[in-house]
Amino acid sequence: MDQLKDKIIFLTGGSEGIGYECAKAYSSEGAKLIIAALNEEQIQKVIDELGPGHLGILCDVSKESEVSVEIEKSIKAYGRLDAIHNNAGIARPAKALHETTSAEWDTLMDTNLKGIYHTIKFGFEALKKSRGSVLNTSSLVGEIGQEMHAAYSATKGGMDALTKSMALDYAKYHIRVNAVAPAGVWTPMLRKWNAEQPDEKNMEDYLNAIHPLGYCPGGDVVADACVFLLSDKARFITGCIMPVSGGAELGYRKL
Ligand SMILES: NC(=O)c1ccc[n+]([C@@H]2O[C@H](COP(=O)([O-])OP(=O)(O)OC[C@H]3O[C@@H](n4cnc5c(N)ncnc54)[C@H](O)[C@@H]3O)[C@@H](O)[C@H]2O)c1
Repeated sequence: MDQLKDKIIFLTGGSEGIGYECAKAYSSEGAKLIIAALNEEQIQKVIDELGPGHLGILCDVSKESEVSVEIEKSIKAYGRLDAIHNNAGIARPAKALHETTSAEWDTLMDTNLKGIYHTIKFGFEALKKSRGSVLNTSSLVGEIGQEMHAAYSATKGGMDALTKSMALDYAKYHIRVNAVAPAGVWTPMLRKWNAEQPDEKNMEDYLNAIHPLGYCPGGDVVADACVFLLSDKARFITGCIMPVSGGAELGYRKL
């Protein structure tokens, strides 16, 4: 239970879904967390659940000034930073590219991609000192694409490229940079999307069927992979986009 003992981890989007599962897993492995997310009430709930020693902050990762202030505050509070997990993300809108508005495009890019630029811009020096590591929550759609989610898929493809390029740039500082790429994961984001589909039940069957291992999982499966990638057991792994997908990227599709 000590795989992340005393590591200080800045986790974005840790109040719900995959990030929430990561928050529980990291703290049970001995890490201290700074959870940056959008919903104050939800952040407080998670901090109360995790117990003392963790910090919850209201911070929009798309806003450079907010990330700058909050990372500085975190480093002051803990004296160091061992990892940044860029997990906060949005998947809307569900539209083809020509229907996507300029504002929707900008919000997606600013949150999913520019958010990473912001945390790294302000957290880099601390990671350099700690020989720390970066983890990004990507998605399988960054590699295989997704119907009606062109802009979202582009952010995840961009995230994969960023992960590899950062891994190369930062290897000389002994900073490892990796990503996890889930397919479907039951989270508030996916449940909301599912409820909006014309045939909710069929959609659930579909979401189970895209994973050869037979089911659409919860965020715990992603969290376990994230613990490994942030731990010293992954000390020689960098630039890796690790699918956590039950094999969704393999083989020919069933009807
Ligand atoms: N759920 C899936 O099926 C799935 C699949 C592949 C990848 N992902 C990726 O996993 C990550 C988490 O998704 P989820 O399904 O857990 O989502 P979710 O909507 O359940 O939770 C999102 C979290 O991100 C935070 N957040 C959103 N925008 C933010 C912003 N601008 N600044 C700070 N925090 C912000 C929210 O407060 C919340 O804590 C996302 O990057 C998503 O693209 C999800």
